[in-house]
Amino acid sequence: MKNRLAPRLLAWYRSQKRTLPWRDSPDPYAVWVSEIMLQQTRVDTVIPYFEKWMKLFPTVKALASADERDALNLWEGLGYYSRARNLHKAAKIVLEKFDGELPRNLDDLRSLPGVGRYTVGAIASMAFGMDEATLDGNIRRIYSRLFDVDEFADSAAGEKILWQLAAQNLPKGEAGDYNQALMDLGATICLPKNPRCAVCPLKALCLARRRGTQELRPRMKPKKATPLYVHAAAVIVERGRALIGQRAADGLLGGLWEFPNARVEGEAAQALTQSLKAATQIEVKRGAALNVVRHAYSHFRVEVHPFLCERIFIPKNKNLKWVWLSELSAYPMGKVDRQIALQIK
Ligand code: ADE
Repeated sequence: MKNRLAPRLLAWYRSQKRTLPWRDSPDPYAVWVSEIMLQQTRVDTVIPYFEKWMKLFPTVKALASADERDALNLWEGLGYYSRARNLHKAAKIVLEKFDGELPRNLDDLRSLPGVGRYTVGAIASMAFGMDEATLDGNIRRIYSRLFDVDEFADSAAGEKILWQLAAQNLPKGEAGDYNQALMDLGATICLPKNPRCAVCPLKALCLARRRGTQELRPRMKPKKATPLYVHAAAVIVERGRALIGQRAADGLLGGLWEFPNARVEGEAAQALTQSLKAATQIEVKRGAALNVVRHAYSHFRVEVHPFLCERIFIPKNKNLKWVWLSELSAYPMGKVDRQIALQIK
């Protein structure tokens, strides 16, 4: 099948390609930003964030000299906030080490925080016209189906096969368009459920279609059930200011702000004061319950029970801050805490 994929796919792409603000841009920085945003997030969601980002941080230099908090603030709602922190960190490195230009050397690119094998392939092919393959969720699914790959796509063996397929089928001199064509095909036709095979430009070449195994591909390792964690949060408001804390820089939601909270076992209302004191030293008297907020992260779910509280004791802790209610929106938060903040604004 080698060499037969690319011409059909490229012909389809030329007539069907989506108009996207980072496409056909001569600016490697714009390609980089968009690829980072698109890693875990759908195109429709990304577009307004991308446009805002490019207005506020139009160049590597502008990003490198910006405040991390402004970058996180703009990112709010996109999730996976380490992406914003890494972009900001990487911009500083590009400015200092590479004179403000994204490096064309693959190892140099790969050395940047947040830039993995996928992003290297995407930037090299789309921004620099290099003959480099890349593999994201869409492309993985397409090759799994075209070649009816039976290995688990999320195993080392499966990964290896898929990267090989991506490299073998890459048309010389057209890798950027080809990679983006695969992404568009995955987003509009080769869908995870109910793929639109009847209108697929590659249908005649697709082994899974011939065998009727499209919905079984890519084959993934069985998932463990995601655990549910219950937290209780203290919403302490005094004379128009609320107490919030900044999370540690590394780890989940790193650097974002939240209402003091603790994981609880059993009834959240009962456990709040004890658990909060144990986790944060903060002592409160519990008041009225606010609305429970739920959120699903990739590997677990949380259910947060917020309560209005009065302070009994607040430790001296530089991560804690009293913030005017009208200023809460300037402090980047994850989805859960923003929903709590909106309940008291
Ligand atoms: N998903 C990730 N990168 C993309 C791109 N450049 N075009 C369309 N979808 C994408």
